[in-house]
Amino acid sequence: MKNEIKSSKKQIVKRSWAEPYKMKMVELLTMTDRPHRLKAIKQAGYNTFLLRSEDVYIDLLTDSGTSAMSDQQWAGMMLGDESYAGSRNFFKLEKTIQKCYGYKYIIPTHQGRGAENILSKILIKKGDIIPGNMYFTTTRLHQELAGGTFVDVIVDEAHDPVSEFPFKGNVDMAKLQAIVKKYGAKRIPYVCIATNVNMAGGQPMSMDNLRKLRAFTKKLGIKVIHDMTRVAENAYFIQQREKGYDKKSIREIVFEICSYTDGATMSAKKDALVNIGGFLALNDWDAFEEARNLVVVYEGLHTYGGLAGRDMEAMSIGIEESLSDNHMRARVGQVEYLGRLMESYGIPIVKPIGGHGIFVDAKQFLPHIPQDQFPAQTLAAEVYLDSGVRTMERGIVSAGRKSNGENYFPKLELVRFTIPRRVYTQAHMDVIAESVYSVYQRREKIKGLKMVYEPKYLRFFQAKFEKLV
Ligand code: F0G
Repeated sequence: MKNEIKSSKKQIVKRSWAEPYKMKMVELLTMTDRPHRLKAIKQAGYNTFLLRSEDVYIDLLTDSGTSAMSDQQWAGMMLGDESYAGSRNFFKLEKTIQKCYGYKYIIPTHQGRGAENILSKILIKKGDIIPGNMYFTTTRLHQELAGGTFVDVIVDEAHDPVSEFPFKGNVDMAKLQAIVKKYGAKRIPYVCIATNVNMAGGQPMSMDNLRKLRAFTKKLGIKVIHDMTRVAENAYFIQQREKGYDKKSIREIVFEICSYTDGATMSAKKDALVNIGGFLALNDWDAFEEARNLVVVYEGLHTYGGLAGRDMEAMSIGIEESLSDNHMRARVGQVEYLGRLMESYGIPIVKPIGGHGIFVDAKQFLPHIPQDQFPAQTLAAEVYLDSGVRTMERGIVSAGRKSNGENYFPKLELVRFTIPRRVYTQAHMDVIAESVYSVYQRREKIKGLKMVYEPKYLRFFQAKFEKLV
């Protein structure tokens, strides 16, 4: 009843939220028919990553780099100082990050994985162990390429799609203690935490958990490195759910989260509302010095790191906009709207509803398809076929193989309906939910897939499949 108030006549009056912006320009969408889509998805090897975007109607593949920039950000693009070295946009970005997030030293990178690469090379030695609150594809791969092994220490609830636990992103402190006991603190250069854990369904960490993690690691001399890609969305959930935070602003909460960590990697293509960009932030001078040296090898000079001056300007403005309470309420509000609609149709989704998208539970949706016939990959292809809505597999294909060649069999087998920020309307959300319901009604007739091409790294991007008959 949070959004409803009682009028003087004791009548319930609904009070809705609405987007804190209006449209100034629109991009026309292509609408296709089913025969066209059948041809397109077959050609794409039933992999939505291999579809051409012109064959897609509503694109929910990712919230990465797909946001609509504001007029302020577009105006900022004209202020790009495209000098090779010492661009004024870099100094503005550095100042914005120091002010909003509190980190001391900043290195821009072309996107998140650029920062992960440099960080992993600096902090990880062969044989090291990196505990984290659930893996992310690129993050874990860079840790492994640097000679480390990722160990999952997220709470068990995160692996249970129906658990309503409000902080499914939390680190299980007992699991972390056991890892420290088993390997010793010396082999653990840092704990890698993500705020609003992507692979768990956009689920937050609590401030209380962060504080405990900080106290525990500090004693042992273990760093905490923060994947802050969706930190503002995490802050929104803390504001809504955690005791003592309902009167605090997103800006204040974000700052506090960062204060419990020693450094961060950021894909600014998400929270920070830009189409390209990222950074590495560190508080330790020695680590920064090494990172500043490595960035010139992999990205570009330390004052642009693979970005144009205009990209850094848009990022500075986007960071500020992402910390607005009104923005975040509408952003997560839209995701919640879609989630509630799907629930009303009986679609099995990950709960509680997360920050950046709706995650449909493909194991429950298609219980007759075994995991090695790729239920989530199958479902993503079926939704595309039904309506031209493009989603992404987040299950066994994304999880990849262990170093011994065996498949990971993740507990979560999900299809991610990721909502770009400030892009689609409520009517689009209706169309999406109706399409999923239509697939749900004929779910028993749907057959699985077999993989016919598998690339070595991050296979979900380029793998190809054929329909089982
Ligand atoms: N960390 C998290 C939590 C991410 O979600 C991503 C990207 C990255 C790091 C890597 O950043 O793409 O800028 O190199 N996630 C995208 C997604 C690709 O669709 O979830 P990047």
